[in-house]
Amino acid sequence: MCGIVGYVGKHKAVSILIEGLNRLEYRGYDSAGVAIQQNGRIEVAKKAGRVANLAREAAKHHFTGTAGISHTRWATHGGVTDANAHPHLSSDDKIALVHNGVVENYDAIKRFLLAKGYTFKSETDTEVLTNLVAYHYTKETTVEGESRFLEAVRKTLYHVEGTYGIAVLCSDFPGEIVAARKGSPLILGVGQDENIIASDVSALVSRTQRVVYLKDGEIVHVTARDFSITTLDQADVSPVIDKVTWSIESAEMGAHAHFMEKEIFEQATALENAMRGRFSEDGSTANFGGLNLNAADFRAIDRFVFCSCGSAWHACLVAEHLIERFARVPVEVDYASEFRYRNSPLDPHSLFFVISQSGETIDTLAALREAKRKGYKVMAICNGVGSTIAREADGGIYQHAGPEIGVASTKAFTSQLLISAMFALYVARMRDMSFSDGVHYVNALKATPDLVRRTLEQAPRIREIAKRYAKYNDFLFLGRLSLFPIALEGALKLKEISYIHAEGYPAAEMKHGPIALISEECPSVFFVPKGEIFNKLVSSMQEIKARKGKIIAIVTEGCELPPGLADEIIPIPDCHEATLPVIATVPVQLLSYYIAVERGCDVDKPRNLAKSVTVE
Ligand code: G6P
Repeated sequence: MCGIVGYVGKHKAVSILIEGLNRLEYRGYDSAGVAIQQNGRIEVAKKAGRVANLAREAAKHHFTGTAGISHTRWATHGGVTDANAHPHLSSDDKIALVHNGVVENYDAIKRFLLAKGYTFKSETDTEVLTNLVAYHYTKETTVEGESRFLEAVRKTLYHVEGTYGIAVLCSDFPGEIVAARKGSPLILGVGQDENIIASDVSALVSRTQRVVYLKDGEIVHVTARDFSITTLDQADVSPVIDKVTWSIESAEMGAHAHFMEKEIFEQATALENAMRGRFSEDGSTANFGGLNLNAADFRAIDRFVFCSCGSAWHACLVAEHLIERFARVPVEVDYASEFRYRNSPLDPHSLFFVISQSGETIDTLAALREAKRKGYKVMAICNGVGSTIAREADGGIYQHAGPEIGVASTKAFTSQLLISAMFALYVARMRDMSFSDGVHYVNALKATPDLVRRTLEQAPRIREIAKRYAKYNDFLFLGRLSLFPIALEGALKLKEISYIHAEGYPAAEMKHGPIALISEECPSVFFVPKGEIFNKLVSSMQEIKARKGKIIAIVTEGCELPPGLADEIIPIPDCHEATLPVIATVPVQLLSYYIAVERGCDVDKPRNLAKSVTVE
């Protein structure tokens, strides 16, 4: 949510900033802007709309400066206008600032600043922050040895309630950026005679793979050749420089039309990466190096609590099903945004899990912190290496799915499902699951990437179905047991990228309301895997058919449906119960993707959404 890039070095900053913004655009895309330091002042170009609009606007300015900050916005305070776009300039034009987050006490600060004669051009909380830095900058310096600029930012942040990732320029300090974070991600890229600040590694990895993940409450003062990090209380911080393990190519689209398509087709590889090195030598269970708990600790656990947002929450529901089914340990699932305010009772033998692709979702992070505050150990299943959630968790499992750029999660989601299946096995083998069942399960997990590849071969058939169904404005997705969460995920995918109203429901529960929607104009997508409830699912389909509803059935190969019951059939390979959610997800991803393409939607950047939701 909102992307920040700052550059200081020997090259023209504007092109580097705009390249970075293009890579960050998935974080927010309702407006964009740059501020460049040149000729003793700060010049700003900003525009509502996409980064391409900004690039055209910036070209008119002929920027030459080698230090600047930039931003892509996802609106919180104030509508989508040029004036509300970042960077914001202080009324005296001395300070420019970009911000990701929400200043909760902005109103009180604004009233204070208005009384002091500061003026405002926008409706944003960020402009308030900018003028507060300007205000402190005009005051007497009190901190010995510290630059006045850095001191002004520090003093400002003492007064801020809320969350922020900020990058700031001061016209009197050419070639310097001050940046800070609390609750919103910020990374320093350490380059050769240049340094970069960004809210996401993807914005800087084309220039350097050496990064410092800033922590909450830290301020970094950056020049082209140097940087220093301190805490808000002025304690020095010794930086840890990490190496980014993925290259820029993995964050590029290649021959695909969209990142979403690329990421759907990368899933088999992402699953292989999730499993690499994670099976026991005897091939009967999974191993996780990062959980930091031993087998005895795990045996003492009598309940798991899983918390997340969005697609990751659907992954939690699958984890619940698989852990309860195979390990027979009770699992509770909560929305992170609810958990954080609910004061849910936790007991000492519960283990708390969060699942997050980005590792930066603010509600998931808040849930993690709340659980830790109550004394619980917290584990994270996370794709974002070095992310805040990964760092704050007591232990965890990295997904190794590589960068996911499409706003609608695909490969990260199926990787979360597979890791959940592996974790269910791990817990089950410590309890009642036999050695031979474990070996069978492990073999099934290992077979999953190939089964995903086979399912992806259905893409041309699904594309044809999508062409026939793209005209409908309402869909139901119906599944049972471990595929109920996949019905929710299918409905979410369709609504988020093609703006079609879609609901996911347990197939039999459909009779208690959603069936009222059924008509020739409301198709249903049914998950019909083989198994003991196959006939029950067929009965539910008959109920839809009797009301003239069209049916797209995702059916296990070799299972016969009564003739004429389904209007469309998408076969999926027969597989183990534990990996069925992964396999069944692929057709609904493809269906949503092709329907969105057919309707001409902006698949990778759906309206109003953002990839990483770092504000409440
Ligand atoms: C946003 C994204 C979703 C994602 C959710 C949770 O809504 O658009 O794709 O599932 O955030 O994000 P996380 O990074 O915590 O998995």
